[in-house]
Amino acid sequence: MSRAQIRVEVNQPITISGVTYRVAEHPALAGIPYVQRGGRGFVIQMIAPNADRMALKYFKLKYRVPALVKVAESLRQFADLQGLRAAQRTVFTQRTHTDLIVKHPALDYGMLMPWLPGVTWYDVISTRMALSVAEGVRLARQTAAIMASLEARKVAHCDIAGANVLIERKVGQVELVDIEEMYAPNMPAPVEMPIGQDGYQHTASRQHGQWHAEGDRFGAAILIAEMLGWTHPKIRQFSADEHYFASAEMQDATSTRFKLLCEVLSERFSPHITDLLRAAWHSRNLAECPPLAEWQSALAALPEAALSAQPEISQPTAPSTSPSHPISASGGTGGVISGRRAINVQLPAEASTADSTPSPAPMPQAVPHVQLDGVKLCRNCGAPNSTKEQFCARCGFYIGTGARRPPPKPAPQPPPAGVVSMSKPAPQPQAVTLNRNLSEVIAARRVGDPKGGGMIRIESAKPPSDQVEANAGSTIVIGIVIGLIMIGVLLALVAR
Ligand SMILES: Nc1ncnc2c1ncn2[C@@H]1O[C@H](COP(=O)(O)OP(=O)(O)O)[C@@H](O)[C@H]1O
Ligand SMILES: [Mg+2]
Repeated sequence: MSRAQIRVEVNQPITISGVTYRVAEHPALAGIPYVQRGGRGFVIQMIAPNADRMALKYFKLKYRVPALVKVAESLRQFADLQGLRAAQRTVFTQRTHTDLIVKHPALDYGMLMPWLPGVTWYDVISTRMALSVAEGVRLARQTAAIMASLEARKVAHCDIAGANVLIERKVGQVELVDIEEMYAPNMPAPVEMPIGQDGYQHTASRQHGQWHAEGDRFGAAILIAEMLGWTHPKIRQFSADEHYFASAEMQDATSTRFKLLCEVLSERFSPHITDLLRAAWHSRNLAECPPLAEWQSALAALPEAALSAQPEISQPTAPSTSPSHPISASGGTGGVISGRRAINVQLPAEASTADSTPSPAPMPQAVPHVQLDGVKLCRNCGAPNSTKEQFCARCGFYIGTGARRPPPKPAPQPPPAGVVSMSKPAPQPQAVTLNRNLSEVIAARRVGDPKGGGMIRIESAKPPSDQVEANAGSTIVIGIVIGLIMIGVLLALVAR
């Protein structure tokens, strides 16, 4: 009966408001209770007597605050909106659910809400789940509709990120979870100011937070662009691990992933959608990002016939004047790739001034481009590196597998300003100090069967130190071992 957490077992009964629910078994892990872990709490899947699935959420101690009752009351007014079924919730307090909290003290200010089916967007990205064009567009449209409807009410989720968005890709349903920190007029302020999550965070939010009516403009722009882009195998292939963009390349005008995504959006969807992403990417603050209603109308304007005619792997609609590079079959993780032209990346666009509306996106074949053959993008900072490299030449992050860091080499000459050439391999790795701000590591992952929606999110402990320190540590250990061996040999010689 810990106050910190509940240890549940499969089929364990828990009675809430006179109804006895049972703890569900994880669909992919026999005998394991179906418990999801988030940043602030845990969510247990419960089965009602009528077989309905419910979500029982409880918080870590710090987040169990009386304001959650007021938040739940305020959320009720949005419970009928698209994508906000999680607002249909009952919060437990010692006054309203005395017996329950005596028995399970961790449920103080916990809540019961409908279990939302599907997988999180985080699951889609981290398992490289392929989406058809029709699925991607349906999800993007649904997301834009939800976000625009919140925006019209001056309401914002404020923590749009993959793990807080549940999707059912076949039917194109999208639901938001983790809505306790939503912004709405008269909503109590959250315990901690939401600042956005890796891969979806605006630089201004990191400094000032995003608990305000425009709090979703950047995160939702990235999410919608990801949903469209994810239909393309090159986007899946070059994605960072848990979100398409690496945390340290957000809003970097030279980001290769950004240029790749812009090109895919222009080629496969519309230059107008690319403009919206560019405007959000180059914005100085959230107010400068396009309103979410603009995303909704740009998506509505996509020609239906063209979309339904698109195969999972797009064919070029017009002959390209650019040299083409066939994509190898190993290039994509989610589909057979044959006979289509390579996705090429535009050279860095001129730095867009944040207060000017970006000009219409040029069509990909009208601009110089760089191909991605033999290139891998750093999972930490997004820099292009040769596939042969083990460590990112820009930030020192480990990007290879198995091998040890090569010895330091003299610093290479800087490339010409403003030009990123990926046809040349990245400069040789140097003994760089890993920027700690960039050193995000995988902190959570899910296991299970994504197709069946049976996923569980499990936390993997952060390594005690970053890669550079790990290498330095191993060097010291090797030095000590060699020293001990030498002392042993000397002692043996002296003993003779
Ligand atoms: N109502 C729900 N139905 C299904 N899954 C949910 C529901 N609420 C949360 N989850 C799952 O639990 C995870 C953690 O929940 P979340 O509310 O995001 O917690 P935290 O506030 O700790 O981030 C989510 O990423 C999602 O996978
Ligand atoms: Mg969450």
